[in-house]
Amino acid sequence: VTDDIEEYYKAAEGLVLTAGKIIEGAINLNKNIKIKGIEWDLVTEYDRRIEDDLKRQLSNMYPQHKFIGEETTAEGNCLPKLTDEPTWIIDPIDGTTNFVHQFPHTCISLALVINKRIEIGIVYNPLMKQFFSAKRQKGAFLNGHPIKTSKVTDLSQSLIAMEPWIAKDSDYLVPIYTRMHALIQGTHGIRSLGTAALTLCYVAMGAIEAYHVEGIEAWDVAAGKLIIEEAGGTVIDTSGGELDLIVPRVIAACNHQIADQLVDLFKSADLETVNKN
Ligand code: IPD
Repeated sequence: VTDDIEEYYKAAEGLVLTAGKIIEGAINLNKNIKIKGIEWDLVTEYDRRIEDDLKRQLSNMYPQHKFIGEETTAEGNCLPKLTDEPTWIIDPIDGTTNFVHQFPHTCISLALVINKRIEIGIVYNPLMKQFFSAKRQKGAFLNGHPIKTSKVTDLSQSLIAMEPWIAKDSDYLVPIYTRMHALIQGTHGIRSLGTAALTLCYVAMGAIEAYHVEGIEAWDVAAGKLIIEEAGGTVIDTSGGELDLIVPRVIAACNHQIADQLVDLFKSADLETVNKN
């Protein structure tokens, strides 16, 4: 099995590096932008092209393998079931809005899940030449160099990432702003990158202590989750329980202490929201 994982990893690494050239070549071009269902969810012809290329090449090599891809799912309107079969989870361009605006934080995210366990995670930002990778129990790397999460254990000394866009959904408006307000009061500050996969890697490399996001999908999280865990961090559900990869409500943190403090902070913030209503 280890030999298989090594082979899958080598194949995936080569394909993602090649796919990165599509993002590099297109970043400054005019793009054909479409809206996927909700008005702020953008897609370009490049998202589709990268997903198709990765899928075609991987299924030529491994015909038995399954796929869960952002754009294929968006077109089919239904998320394929995650089985025990080897399954590649693909986000061809995570941070499509950034890509459209030439904001250089955008990446390809690819994970391999076998028996519902993430075995390989790759997140590549070709514009900043950041290649994050992990294999289960083999550590996490940035451009081949080992990375570790931050050692900070006190939330008040932390830098946290969050994404305010979700407040466009009226159900989320008050809870998200209440949580952000709690973070502004209780940490060094908030940052927002606009790409979940890459932000998870920023936790993994120790650039931020934690990241909180909801309303995202398996392809935004799968690769980054393994990369954080292999770098010494943790990725759990906002409630404090185990993360559901298919409906991810994410608290990603450099360690359990910071994760637990965030769970408690958000519980109090949510209670405040309920009491106000
Ligand atoms: C988006 C980004 C963003 C996250 C959104 C995702 P996409 O991915 O990861 O950070 O907050 O939920 O949809 O659509 O640009 O691949």
